Amino acid sequence: MCARLSGSVLVTGSNRGIGLELVRQLCESPCPPTHIFAACRDPDGPNAKVLRDLALKHPQLVTTLCLDTTNQGTIAEAARLVGDQLKDGSLNLLINNAAINIPGSLADTGEKEMMEVFLTNTVGPMLVTKEFLPHLRTAASRPGAQSEMSCRRAAVVNVSTLFSSIQRCHETFLRAPMYPYRVSKAALNMLTRCLSEDLRADGILVMALHPGWVQTDMGGPQAPLSTEDSVKGMLNVISSLSDQHVGALLDWEGKSIPW
Ligand SMILES: NC(=O)c1ccc[n+]([C@@H]2O[C@H](COP(=O)([O-])OP(=O)(O)OC[C@H]3O[C@@H](n4cnc5c(N)ncnc54)[C@H](OP(=O)(O)O)[C@@H]3O)[C@@H](O)[C@H]2O)c1
Repeated sequence: MCARLSGSVLVTGSNRGIGLELVRQLCESPCPPTHIFAACRDPDGPNAKVLRDLALKHPQLVTTLCLDTTNQGTIAEAARLVGDQLKDGSLNLLINNAAINIPGSLADTGEKEMMEVFLTNTVGPMLVTKEFLPHLRTAASRPGAQSEMSCRRAAVVNVSTLFSSIQRCHETFLRAPMYPYRVSKAALNMLTRCLSEDLRADGILVMALHPGWVQTDMGGPQAPLSTEDSVKGMLNVISSLSDQHVGALLDWEGKSIPW
């Protein structure tokens, strides 16, 4: 089945892991978006070679962009470039995927670790969403836009995690304490809820999505899910989002996760 994402899409952290696979599957979909903005910290660097090759293979479809979620200047410049490149200035889907994890016990975790992870995983998606909001608003309100909310109209997907769930913390905490990561992603969930309430009136759908435990640099080789299967599921969920999913926290199979 083809995940329907007809408009323009921007993915942060798209040079490796889940972000790269999102761009790859969007490019190779039988019904691809009209345009893909593949954002990452260093699009010209050695860690973005696979992404650059993908962009070369699909020159009409993919634009690579420099965007560091901890650097307001790069976010603003990326939003300006996207505005210039889009014919009508409308961005339909923003996927806030970029994140870091500094694992460790309470003893290993101090102010530096907490702040660095919070800045990247929570403040970053807020700043990125804020900067791209004019493009999302244009998409949501353009003539002929559907009245129902969806990723084809305008949506923000914040990539969260099961580890953000306060209710289910006891299931995984002892094997993976990850204080900064868990706290930053629980805060990302609240950011998701705030934005979803704020932007509902504009017709912009905001939700959070857990990709599963995935074989990436972050997830490790022992993870049960391949990036292919995770992203296939994520794109199916994203393409079927509607009004009922405003502010939801779902997993890659579309199942709801308790806060
Ligand atoms: N893998 C899992 O099991 C798992 C489970 C639950 C949730 N997630 C979530 O899924 C998302 C993707 O994770 P992943 O597994 O693909 O991780 P990953 O393999 O470690 O990749 C992380 C991506 O984020 C980028 N990034 C980090 N800091 C950034 C910044 N300040 N600005 C821009 N980009 C930045 C990295 O770019 P550089 O190459 O420049 O560092 C890289 O592209 C994250 O939100 C993560 O929390 C993953």
